[in-house]
Amino acid sequence: MNIHQQDPEISHLLNQELLRQRQGLEMIPSENFVSEAVLEALGSIGTNKYSEGYPGKRYYGGCEFVDGIEQIAIDRAKTLFGVTHANVQPYSGSPANLAVYFALLNPSDTVMGMHLFYGGHMTHGLPVNFSGTLYHSVQYQTRKDGYLDLEAMAEQAKTEKPKMIIVGATAYPRVFDWKALKEIADSVGAFLLADISHIAGLIVAGVHPSPAGIADVMTTTTHKTLRGPRGAMILCNGNPSTPLKTVERTKENIPTLIDRAIIPGLQGGPHNHQTAAIAVALKEASTQEFKTYGQQIVKNAKALADRLLEHGFTLVTGGTDNHLILIDLNNKALTGAQAEKALDLAGMTVNKNTIPFDPRRPFDPSGIRLGTPALTSRGMKEEEMKQIGDWINEAVIYWKEEEKLRDLRKRVKDMTDQFPLYPNLQY
Ligand SMILES: Cc1ncc(COP(=O)(O)O)c(C=O)c1O
Repeated sequence: MNIHQQDPEISHLLNQELLRQRQGLEMIPSENFVSEAVLEALGSIGTNKYSEGYPGKRYYGGCEFVDGIEQIAIDRAKTLFGVTHANVQPYSGSPANLAVYFALLNPSDTVMGMHLFYGGHMTHGLPVNFSGTLYHSVQYQTRKDGYLDLEAMAEQAKTEKPKMIIVGATAYPRVFDWKALKEIADSVGAFLLADISHIAGLIVAGVHPSPAGIADVMTTTTHKTLRGPRGAMILCNGNPSTPLKTVERTKENIPTLIDRAIIPGLQGGPHNHQTAAIAVALKEASTQEFKTYGQQIVKNAKALADRLLEHGFTLVTGGTDNHLILIDLNNKALTGAQAEKALDLAGMTVNKNTIPFDPRRPFDPSGIRLGTPALTSRGMKEEEMKQIGDWINEAVIYWKEEEKLRDLRKRVKDMTDQFPLYPNLQY
């Protein structure tokens, strides 16, 4: 029995969601559209199998085929990111970061991460997150111009002496200087964790510098620019050993510490369907086609940023080097939440976001964050970006006029019809 017959309520909602994805302009920078092959692997019978442990070392029988799947995912991840150790089992990005804390630190150790309101992620030390409650979190922020303040970070590191510095962002439109950041970490003997969740696909495409061989450990989600299923990986250098005794928290032991933090530390059975889908996505990411895709993401973001600037929008840092744009709406008549709502009505999905030194509250901040990974996956190029820039401007001008926004939505749909998404899919 298929889902439509078995559960019409859920199948109806899935079809509605499919239509929403097809007919709108998806501009949340952490979202993307996976290939049909990735979808197929994710919906596979891998989900039926328990396989606690690692390939060749499982606590369950019948793992010979899931061993093959996980080993392929590991090997592809190592090759693609240029590291010697990969753990592909984290259920998602937040658990991956938790695993690194658990592996490398003692509770209450000092951790230095980017403040959420300046572009960081909750798991980088937000007070209400595990990272800000179980650990002593000190947070860094950007300069007034929105760029990372490396000098202030170096000073802060000297004063606070963190055991780990986390670099990576959810809302930072520029590139990271990994060597300079590593020098700061080394100056105080801290581990450097590079959370490349947002930029992994750009790194693979060669349009963002890679922290491989520089940072002590990297975490990444697999579902953003990398265009895989929801999931995550932890990447580092060295080889895990399997001594039964306690393993000291040294750089040489990072692979062992990471593997142990995932299981038995934090997780049980890996999600084999997810691992299979990650493997498929990594194969796709190793192609020339994907490199071209990653390059186009950045070209599109720049084209969209340029158009928005022409319309008089203020962009944090004045533009973008990567896949995302942070608009500061303070010179416009509406807030981030109001812009998010108006754009939603017009068929354009973005999210409200704080901007550095935001004068407003986080639940109704001054900014919106938008990006080009999903639009680029649909095949859109610079021409479409210019049009979208014009439409964002229109929606911001007419944000109070529902009729005008609905008319805009029709034009958005006409454009998206030209870039079919999962044309044969139906639930
Ligand atoms: C930089 C960064 N790290 C970690 C995460 C957490 O990933 P997940 O939502 O899969 O837990 C995100 C998600 O937005 C992120 O942007």
